[in-house]
Formats: sequence, C-alpha cells, structure tokens
Amino acid sequence: MSDIGNSNRITREYIDSLLIETRYMDSANPDPAFTLYGETFSSPIMTAALSHLKPRLGEDAPLALANGAKAADTVLWYGMAEEDEIESLSKTGVRMIEIIKPYADRDLIFKKLETAEKLHHLAAGIDIDHPFAEDGSPDDIEGFKMAPLSTAELAEFCKSTKLPLIIKGVLSLRDAERCLAAGAKGLVLSHHNNRIEYAIPPLAVLPEIAELVSGEIPLFVDCEIKTGMDAFKALALGAAGVCIGRPLMGAIRENGADGVRDYLLKANNELKKAMAYTGCYNLKKMDPTVIRRL
Ligand SMILES: Cc1cc2nc3c(=O)[nH]c(=O)nc-3n(C[C@H](O)[C@H](O)[C@H](O)COP(=O)(O)O)c2cc1C
Repeated sequence: MSDIGNSNRITREYIDSLLIETRYMDSANPDPAFTLYGETFSSPIMTAALSHLKPRLGEDAPLALANGAKAADTVLWYGMAEEDEIESLSKTGVRMIEIIKPYADRDLIFKKLETAEKLHHLAAGIDIDHPFAEDGSPDDIEGFKMAPLSTAELAEFCKSTKLPLIIKGVLSLRDAERCLAAGAKGLVLSHHNNRIEYAIPPLAVLPEIAELVSGEIPLFVDCEIKTGMDAFKALALGAAGVCIGRPLMGAIRENGADGVRDYLLKANNELKKAMAYTGCYNLKKMDPTVIRRL
C-alpha cells in the first residue's frame, strides 16, 4: 500500500518536529489532575473513540478498554456500537463519552443521545468526519447510511440533550467556528486515523482553534498521540485533553484491561515528567511558548 500522503505518517512527523524547552526555575511537583464537565480525573490522557473491537481483538476487548480506563482513573471515549455494548461498558462504572456516527437517519442520532443521557454518560458527541466513503459518496457502515451535518442540524442536536455535545473531526477554523456557533461543548481535532490523505496534523491547527475558542469549550486531540510527551505537546498548545486509540488496541492484545491501564499510567508518568521539566506543573500552567518547531 502506498504511503504517499498518509496522514498518520505526516502527523507523526509533525509531532516529532515539535521540541520542548525546559524551564526548571520555580517549577514544582507535577499534578495532572483533570477536570472535565465538572468531574475530576487523574489524567487528561484518555482512550480514543474506538469501535469494532470484538472482531479484531476478541469478545472481551470492549470491556478490557473500559476497565483499563477506569483503573487508570480516566475517561473512556467510545465509538459506534449497539446499545447493549454501550450499556455493558457503562455498567463497569467508567465515566464515558460516546461518539455517535453522523447517521443519515437523524432520528437515530436523537435516540442515541437520549440513551446516552439515560446512561448518565459524561458527554456525547458526533464524528462529523465520517459521512463520506472512499469515493466521496455517502458512506454506509453495516447497512447504516451516513450524511454530512448542517450547522442548523447540529444546533438542534445540541439543544436536544442535557449532555455536553462534542464534535469530533474538526481540522479547520471554519468548522470550529460553525460548531461553536451551533452550541458544541467540546471539539476533537482529529483526522480519524487517516480518513483523508494529506490531512493537517491536529497539533498544527490547534493553536489557531485554541485562540478562537479562548477557553470557552475544551479542545481534545487524537491521532498519533502515543506517549506522555506527545500528550504534553498537545496540552501545552491548548488542548484540554488527548485521546489514544490504536496503541491501546495493542495493549489489549498484549494484556487485556491491565495492559490498557499500564499503558495509560505510563503515559501519565511521562506527561508528569514533561510538566515538571517545563514549569507547566499543573494543567492551568500550560504554556505554548515551551514548544518550539524544529
Ligand atoms: C478500529 C478503530 C475503530 C474506530 N472507530 C471509531 C468510531 O466508531 N468513531 C469515531 O469517532 N472514531 C473511531 N475511530 C477513530 C479513533 O477515535 C481515532 O480518531 C483514530 O484512531 C486516531 O487515533 P490514534 O492515532 O491514536 O489511533 C476508530 C479507530 C480505529 C483504529
């Protein structure tokens, strides 16, 4: 398979081109405690919204992800799934953010938002970057047709739920402005694992979108976030939190829920190191000027 234009590679290269300026003077013990929508967690490093784990990794994989996130005291983001799967994850007691597909059947989105509310999720969201298939026609996932969202529809979804509604798949100031205007309560900057080639690395657009939202709503980043150092770069540049996807699939394969927990805890320790070494010793002290482009 050709690697030309591969957005994961381009994103990885971009993250690696960002260097960290050390600032030891007046630094202190790092504390990555993370408050999101009124609840506090031990880390801003969360799971990415994964799906279809059972055919890939076995029947227990979704629960391993949930239990691993819970053991690491962080948030479980989860993707497309039937109601019984979502319910079983919710029963673990993990705090959960469910990302709902941009179903062409809009009633299905309203219904899923209602269920998310009943299950007391921390938040819900929609991945706006999955309406189209590889040839640009409407996508069809397991018999469900997808369709792009309009700003007006998004405003309706936001109004319909008491949960904070997050939009996943934003990579432009233009989309960020429209989501903000529609009442979104969070944005995930993401190209969704190379959905389009030559996507702008999320960290490259993060500063301008952070300036736009100026702390009004939290920004999240995924794609190629693998270590605590990667997470730190995103946080310093204005993200409230980050999500890790494919590396946690490897962790499930190796050691189930314990593998997920250990991966997340290790990344959190790496994050603490970067925080201590830069004087950004809590999440309020994050400072974009510690990041320099190679
Ligand atoms: C197997 C798999 C399933 C995914 N399912 C969803 C999904 O249902 N909804 C969604 O918004 N993103 C989904 N994603 C995208 C991830 O949430 C994430 O954006 C992407 O994997 C980039 O993060 P990573 O580089 O850490 O893997 C999926 C990714 C993978 C690998």
